Amino acid sequence: MPAVADDDVLGAGLVKVLFAVVGAPALLLVAALACSSAVVTAPSSAPAEAPRPAAPEAAPAPPPTSVLEGIFTEAQAERGQVAYEAHCGECHGEGLGGGEMAPGLTGVAFRFRWRGLKVADIYDSVQSTMPPEEPATLGDQVYIDVVAFLLSANGYPAGDRELAADSNLLEGIAVERMPP
Ligand code: HEC
Repeated sequence: MPAVADDDVLGAGLVKVLFAVVGAPALLLVAALACSSAVVTAPSSAPAEAPRPAAPEAAPAPPPTSVLEGIFTEAQAERGQVAYEAHCGECHGEGLGGGEMAPGLTGVAFRFRWRGLKVADIYDSVQSTMPPEEPATLGDQVYIDVVAFLLSANGYPAGDRELAADSNLLEGIAVERMPP
């Protein structure tokens, strides 16, 4: 009886299809209920205020501790160079090599003068004594830009943040020797 067999096969097939259609949503519903009850009960079993890892872009970069870390920007050093040429170069020389009037500000002289000290010492010294005729007249921003230029001219690397005229910050930055 091929026709009956065909009907049976067809009938079984229909049941399977029906189960697939009805059964799958039923399973989804059960799963959804299980999930929602898990969400509701989760706070009682797990700490609700679990510390989340901070998003990388939200974490402030730690303050630099060394002149080797790229503590000023290229643009800042260039501003500093303009200010240097306007206010310092006549005595210390265009290439910072010094002259009859004033000591050089690069190379051995620079390293010997500032070794073991902090960027704050360079900033304070320059700000409070230069230019000799009228010290502390150029404004904090100009002085810190000039310090950035002096560091740049001594081979220290630029980075992606500007150096601020903030004595706490500058106190923490060691004038380390450039690695050979
Ligand atoms: C009129 C000339 C003159 C001008 C302008 C001048 N300086 Fe000087 N500078 C000197 C002399 C002279 C000394 C040495 C002072 C000393 O040893 O007591 C000196 C010393 C320095 C020192 C070494 C300080 C130290 O404690 O060792 C630095 C750094 C410096 N100047 C930076 C600058 C900067 C930056 C400017 C511009 C903002 C500037 N100078 C402008 C004449 C000048």
